[in-house]
Amino acid sequence: MSGRRKIGVLISGRGSNLKSLIAACADANYPAEIVLVISNVAGAGGLTHAANAGISTKVIPHKTFASRETFDAAIDTALRAADVELVCEAGFMRIHCESFVRRWQGRIVNIHPSLLPAFKGTHVHEQAIAAGVKTSGCTVHFVAAEVDSGPIIAQSAVPVLEGDTPETLAARVLEEEHKLYPLALKRVIEGRVRFDET
Ligand code: GRF
Repeated sequence: MSGRRKIGVLISGRGSNLKSLIAACADANYPAEIVLVISNVAGAGGLTHAANAGISTKVIPHKTFASRETFDAAIDTALRAADVELVCEAGFMRIHCESFVRRWQGRIVNIHPSLLPAFKGTHVHEQAIAAGVKTSGCTVHFVAAEVDSGPIIAQSAVPVLEGDTPETLAARVLEEEHKLYPLALKRVIEGRVRFDET
């Protein structure tokens, strides 16, 4: 891949990672532009960041769909209508059906607030503290059928400090997420990493 790629971002909440991607794309030398932000939650904070940056937004509430398949089909239709080439999940709290993942394989990435394969799923920082690890961090990875299990694109580590709470650790990791996501996306766009069809 080369050139300025059209990115779609999927969110469910506050959208601080979306904000960091918006900031990266504001640089004319960054090889991507965000053309659409989709949220499954009306009123998600990230929608405001998108609107402030003049980016099109779409709310697709999962609850109005009978199945995961029809919900994902609506997302797919919206992404295609906007000519999206690459999808970034940034705090998107829904699991995709297999056909959606297959259709976008190699063109959909996610950020997760742990050093995968450790601590998948939710309550990640609680898991890290309970396990007593001394290092945690964040991972940008390709999305695969199994949740939080796709090929790793980039990682960044932070120390887990004595007395850390899930909140203090989350804040330290989040700061790294904001640096890592734009870098990892750039790597994918430049073709330095790819997830071939399996
Ligand atoms: C981040 O910690 C991300 O790694 C996880 O959900 C959180 C989303 O935060 N998947 P934000 O909405 O980007 O602020």
